[in-house]
Amino acid sequence: MFVAPAAALKGTVTAPGDKSISHRAVMLGALAEGDTVIKNFLPGEDCLSTISCFRKLGVEITGPERGQVRVRGRGFGGLAEPDDVLNAGNSGTTIRLLLGILAGQPYFSVVTGDDSLRQRPMARVTRPLARMGAKMLGRQGGNLAPLGVQGGCLKSIVHNSPMASAQVKSSILLAGLFADGVTTIVEPFRSRDHTERMLKYFGAKVEVFGNTVRVTGHPHLKGQRVLIPGDISSAAFLMVAASIVPGSDLTIPGVGINHTRSGILDVLLKMGAGIELLHQREAGGEPVADIRVRYNGKLAGVTVEGETIPRLIDEVPALAVAAAVAEGNTHIKDASELKVKESDRIATVATLLHRFGADVEELPEGLLIRGGRPLKGTICESQGDHRIAMAAAIAGLVAKGETLVRGAECINVSFPGFARELKNIQGK
Ligand code: S3P
Repeated sequence: MFVAPAAALKGTVTAPGDKSISHRAVMLGALAEGDTVIKNFLPGEDCLSTISCFRKLGVEITGPERGQVRVRGRGFGGLAEPDDVLNAGNSGTTIRLLLGILAGQPYFSVVTGDDSLRQRPMARVTRPLARMGAKMLGRQGGNLAPLGVQGGCLKSIVHNSPMASAQVKSSILLAGLFADGVTTIVEPFRSRDHTERMLKYFGAKVEVFGNTVRVTGHPHLKGQRVLIPGDISSAAFLMVAASIVPGSDLTIPGVGINHTRSGILDVLLKMGAGIELLHQREAGGEPVADIRVRYNGKLAGVTVEGETIPRLIDEVPALAVAAAVAEGNTHIKDASELKVKESDRIATVATLLHRFGADVEELPEGLLIRGGRPLKGTICESQGDHRIAMAAAIAGLVAKGETLVRGAECINVSFPGFARELKNIQGK
């Protein structure tokens, strides 16, 4: 993907459907009785991996077609034994949440993923699932895919997760649906809560107290209509782009602003960005707003740490670009989870910003970005990570000279049509 310095970004641009919520709608739809109809489903590669895995479990799924997916629910106990390996591709959410569901099935299954996913840690879910009674096998003592699961009758547990991770929490909550009694998970900080919201929406009993979530086993789930909001993680690249390209005035309608995901809004506002939330409303059990971003040339560095980190964990590559352009230092702390994303994002963000001539230091648990140096166009690599590719593209909009982002096709994981949308808002 080639990127040239941009004139103002103007007009309206739609962020694709939320990736996290799209996955969950297919999974809960598969477990429910009756049909689930999903609107504004993300047709990105990660969510297509989820659809393909559930088709192999015997679930009839039609679409995505013009944003709609229909899942014919099989009800509890209705998932068929797969006759081949289930492939989650690049998607951590697919593999970890699926493992929770497979742990509750009375048969053997194997899940795997692409080169990146097969290096990402799975013990964080396989260990608690084994405690619930499933047999979990894999390389490095059950830490790396391919992973074999012999599921069956599960018992409820209390799991104290060492990290704030919605994938861990959701995996155990989904296994908890197949366990007798009440399964409890406690996190150090609150991670995204889409599973809790959607489980309740489908009819499960879920209770939330602070950082503790409890689910009661063997609920009766009923198929639903689910409207997926725009993905704030994809919108983040557009928000940062409009905050750094002079003269921009961009509106992104219908973006999910769930508090467990909206750390990027809080931080960009704290940096001084010209962001307004318009027409705040509820859609499909999630809070949504139209986001208007106007360039004001006022970005200043900030410190981001603690409970805010899980609320913007996927937005760090976008935030890092804003930080490189801002005046002063941005310090991102407590973010060691970045090391186990689609790439080691502490390393890949630092390498990327260095290529553009920014002043950035890799820290054991974060990044220190000394902003304000002019960026220069460059040739850079996506490192197979969709969010690194998009961060490179928006940095290219404000760099001097042309930028070439190699391996940008991985953007299809979460934001098909990104390059086209970026071009459209430059032409206005
Ligand atoms: C996700 C949770 C987060 C996030 C990922 C999607 C989810 O991962 O980074 O992109 O849909 O539950 P962790 O749970 O590993 O933090």
